[in-house]
Amino acid sequence: MAIAETTIASPKIKHTECFIDGRWRPSISGKTFQTVNPATEEVICDVAEGDSADIDAAVKAARHAFESGPWSKMDARDRGKLMFRLADLIEEEIDELAALESLDNGKPFREARYGDLPLVLDCLRYYAGYADKIHGSTIPIRGNFFTYTRREAVGVAGQIIPWNFPMLMVAWKWGPALAAGCTIVMKPAEQTPLSCLRLAQLAKEAGIPDGVINVVPGYGPTAGASLVKHPGVDKIAFTGEHRTAQIIMRDASESLKRLTFELGGKSPNVVMADADLDKAAQGAYIGLFLNQGQCCCAGSRVFVEKKVHAEFVDKIQRLAKNRRVGNPMSLDTEQGPQVDQAQFDKIMSYIEKGNAEGAKCVAGGARFGDRGYFVQPTVFDGVNDSMSIAKEEIFGPVMSVLTFDDWEDLVKRANNTFYGLAAAIWTKNVGRAHEFAKRVRAGTVWVNCYDVFDAAAPFGGFKMSGQGRELGEEGLKAYTESKTVTVSLDS
Ligand code: NAI
Ligand code: MG
Repeated sequence: MAIAETTIASPKIKHTECFIDGRWRPSISGKTFQTVNPATEEVICDVAEGDSADIDAAVKAARHAFESGPWSKMDARDRGKLMFRLADLIEEEIDELAALESLDNGKPFREARYGDLPLVLDCLRYYAGYADKIHGSTIPIRGNFFTYTRREAVGVAGQIIPWNFPMLMVAWKWGPALAAGCTIVMKPAEQTPLSCLRLAQLAKEAGIPDGVINVVPGYGPTAGASLVKHPGVDKIAFTGEHRTAQIIMRDASESLKRLTFELGGKSPNVVMADADLDKAAQGAYIGLFLNQGQCCCAGSRVFVEKKVHAEFVDKIQRLAKNRRVGNPMSLDTEQGPQVDQAQFDKIMSYIEKGNAEGAKCVAGGARFGDRGYFVQPTVFDGVNDSMSIAKEEIFGPVMSVLTFDDWEDLVKRANNTFYGLAAAIWTKNVGRAHEFAKRVRAGTVWVNCYDVFDAAAPFGGFKMSGQGRELGEEGLKAYTESKTVTVSLDS
């Protein structure tokens, strides 16, 4: 096939300003920043750089829409309808949105189109259906009283998202917030603001009233921090690095905001000797290399039972070497560039550390090409628990293979991390699988599968991988307050 038939054209950039109170506006300071195509290192466009003044305007709009605007007066069922309409508009534009995501983030178009976007639609529709099913309970108490609870929107939600799944993070945040009746001020990641801005326009076209969704692009320490500190914001939902979450927790303490965090990981992926090794290798491959390795739940510590270690390494290094790296807009590309220079440098420094600390590089280990932030799919064998590459989140296409032969020891080692986001085990032994699921300290456990996500299934971390859960009913509850009402029945 000719290149023209297999390569997606660059999408038109339609929105680069702040979206506040239903209108597009430049930042109040007039400042802009550049967003870069990570595959070419070329600037895509300038984007409004919001800071505290823009955040303040956005929070005021959100506050108004929450307290006296149409949102608070709207029937829950009608809120749900608008959310369904937003999902429909996204679906109509799915190819263009996927191309925009691919351009700004570097992920393969095919993955954005057939991976991220269907999950975006599912998530918005799942929560749209929830909008009119949020209710409290009646509670028998002592005495002649009638007591019931109401589940009410928490208020204005400040949402700060990362760059690895830009649109999916929008859906995970907007979905439950809108269903609960909250209003939103979102700060997208500075690396990938474009798709979020496009979704804001689609929300407007869907009929979501002005002020309900506001988007202020900008940097973390300026726009992000002022959102966290703003007294008009009731809750912060954040996805990103645990160190940023520590800053946010401190900054939010003044106003005691509700906080939910979805942070990083160093997830153990365990391959038992009795596993179907082809499936396990394929699962470990996807579990680590998906999205250029830029997944919070990446299975970055692959523990392989000694008996099958050589066979496993042979399979995984072959898969890694055959991974097609290249132009994300080309339909047969499996791996694009890392999101930016900083991430590229961080990953390359971990590859250096892996070599220096004595691990054995059996695939990749270098930059791919000479333009764009591409890293070869890399596998380190002979990794031990004390090496940097086994302890720290790399957030790139770098797998660490460790071995074990004792079950008790394995469970201890799997838990020997301050993270606790995800874990997986590959085995035919049902007892072992469930024992592992019970004993591993992680928010999600996959058995004979990896990276299976669904809007209905809660996701989040133990320990320093997070606080609270997103998705499912738990994700919705995080956008509500419970109110207890007690009525005397004395006449
Ligand atoms: P980050 O946590 O700094 O950025 C995520 C979001 O937080 C961005 O929108 C950023 O502008 C904002 N932010 C940064 N500082 C802030 C502050 N002081 N107050 C409020 N908001 C702030 O993550 P970054 O720097 O992009 O990546 C660093 C590392 O974090 C990665 O290498 C990776 O290990 C990890 N990470 C984990 C993610 C996950 O999904 N759990 C996603 C992105 C990064
Ligand atoms: Mg940062």
